[in-house]
Amino acid sequence: MKNADFLTGITTTGTPHLGNYVGAIRPAVETSKDPGLVSYYFLADYHSLIKNHDPKLLRQSALEIAAAWIALGLDYKNCVFYRQSDIPEITELTWILTSVCAKGLMNRAHAYKAAVDENENIKSKDPDKGITMGLFSYPILMAADILMFNAAKVPVGKDQVQHLEMTRDIASRFNHLYKKLFHLPEVVVDENTAVLSGLDGRKMSKSYQNTIPLFETEKRLRKLIMKITTNSLGPDEPKDPESCTLFSIYKAFAKPDEIKQMENRYKEGIAWGTMKQELFEYLNNILKQPRQEYEKLVQNAGDIDAILIQGAKKAREYSVPFLDKIRKAVGIQSLG
Ligand code: TRP
Repeated sequence: MKNADFLTGITTTGTPHLGNYVGAIRPAVETSKDPGLVSYYFLADYHSLIKNHDPKLLRQSALEIAAAWIALGLDYKNCVFYRQSDIPEITELTWILTSVCAKGLMNRAHAYKAAVDENENIKSKDPDKGITMGLFSYPILMAADILMFNAAKVPVGKDQVQHLEMTRDIASRFNHLYKKLFHLPEVVVDENTAVLSGLDGRKMSKSYQNTIPLFETEKRLRKLIMKITTNSLGPDEPKDPESCTLFSIYKAFAKPDEIKQMENRYKEGIAWGTMKQELFEYLNNILKQPRQEYEKLVQNAGDIDAILIQGAKKAREYSVPFLDKIRKAVGIQSLG
């Protein structure tokens, strides 16, 4: 196995929605198919353990997210698709990195600082109330995910950029103290990937509760689309596509000529009811087959497990010998 040209972690919480698809899943699926690239995609289930202390839910979420990515076309044979928890070398490396990582660096992490600010806002006596060491050290586990496979490029959302800077910092420190074993990974934030609007017109996000989940039933999908906020312009009145949530969702999926045609229909005054129905049909057509595939996979967890076991096997072809080198560099030799 070669080191990762691309590597990214998938948090295993919540139900994936259209915004996740357009922003993260769709571009990753494209990369996964490229025969000239080695891309690593993994379920960050040890990261999810920090927020989720319900064992059943933890397992179920990981299964559903894996099923979603496979159903949406991830080329798991061409890329390396695995569960973080199946690669024990990652957690071992986490400790080695923890031992060289400055505490001050972690004090500056946005997520930790936000949690402390929140405690101060509610005038809690303890600024660290409810904050686990898992949350505090989260960026070190993430650094281990990346450095374990000497990833060259890491595509992430804007909120993760600081974690990549920390990863580079930790890697440099190790390289300086021991041996130059780690490449410094580059962050890739794609400014061109679409940001979808949600039901109320704000950015589609779990925290606004305005999402359209990917694998709702046909009936629910239709109902949600009918709920999308529009203005009060009547049929036949010309409408502005650019400020319209329905259009922005359509645009993220349709082909350029279809988008042009739809723009014209807005100028001609397409009725909101008609547009909603058309958007529903368009999305449903795209999602129908993945939805069936998803349902099938979720019912057959064994199939997903088999895929992930294969992925872990491939990943460990790299991580086992590489961790051995890292252990040697710090002075831990295998006995016997
Ligand atoms: N922290 C990332 C997120 O919340 C998920 C993640 C975990 C990750 N490990 C990673 C992303 C390693 C890229 C590389 O989205």
